[in-house]
Amino acid sequence: MPSTINRVKTGIPGMDKLMEGGIPEGSVVLLSGGAGCGKTTFSCQFIMEGLDKGENCLYITLEESPEDIKKDALQFGWDLGKHESSGAFRIMYYDPFELKEIITRLKDLITVNKIKRLVIDSITLFGLYLKEEYNIRKELYHLVAALKETGCTALLLSEVTEGDSKKFSRYGVEEFVADGVIVLYYMGLGEGIFRNVEVRKMRRTKHKNGMFPLSLEKNGMKVEADMGSFNS
Ligand SMILES: Nc1ncnc2c1ncn2[C@@H]1O[C@H](COP(=O)(O)OP(=O)(O)OP(=O)(O)O)[C@@H](O)[C@H]1O
Ligand SMILES: [Mg+2]
Repeated sequence: MPSTINRVKTGIPGMDKLMEGGIPEGSVVLLSGGAGCGKTTFSCQFIMEGLDKGENCLYITLEESPEDIKKDALQFGWDLGKHESSGAFRIMYYDPFELKEIITRLKDLITVNKIKRLVIDSITLFGLYLKEEYNIRKELYHLVAALKETGCTALLLSEVTEGDSKKFSRYGVEEFVADGVIVLYYMGLGEGIFRNVEVRKMRRTKHKNGMFPLSLEKNGMKVEADMGSFNS
């Protein structure tokens, strides 16, 4: 039976084929992976897709400066600055220490500016300032709950420690509270670089299981999605 829910296209060729045409609208998705595996690039491509469709988009960075993110995106030909000037795109730096404030301000920002797509790069940074794991979990739970009330589609980036393939998040709770989990893998073998992507979980949709080759080319990411079958 065809699905009637709205799909948010990632903008990454092949990626949406892994999940019946895109991320179910309003989902909060954890985008997880080791250092340098492409989380920021994936997110910029996702944002550009929204901007090209005329949607308002917001990028919260807790790590790199907004200028650096925009410069990185420009390398792929994505002119975020142009959309910032037109008012459709906002990129803001927050100190991870301000987590509680971010949660309250974010809801207003999203509602007032009619934001359709949000990226937080990365939620892992919050933990540096919240020492007690219990508090981190509690605040992350509040963050996801607040975002889900807004109806925007969000990517929360999560950096996992290299080699710990069983973990999708640093604090072990993010993958349960999020609606979806997309994992990026990176392996350097000799002179070759192998990148893969996996949809580990996506509520309200069927998705293909396992890893799919991901390439990073001069105009962005691309997924080879034609093999494999859907879960049921
Ligand atoms: N313009 C480009 N063309 C091709 N490959 C690129 C380009 N820019 C970055 N890369 C590749 O992408 C990798 C980093 O991608 P990205 O910054 O999206 O990863 P990340 O997961 O966000 O990393 P971090 O852990 O540093 O936040 C680089 O290590 C490089 O291999
Ligand atoms: Mg990054």
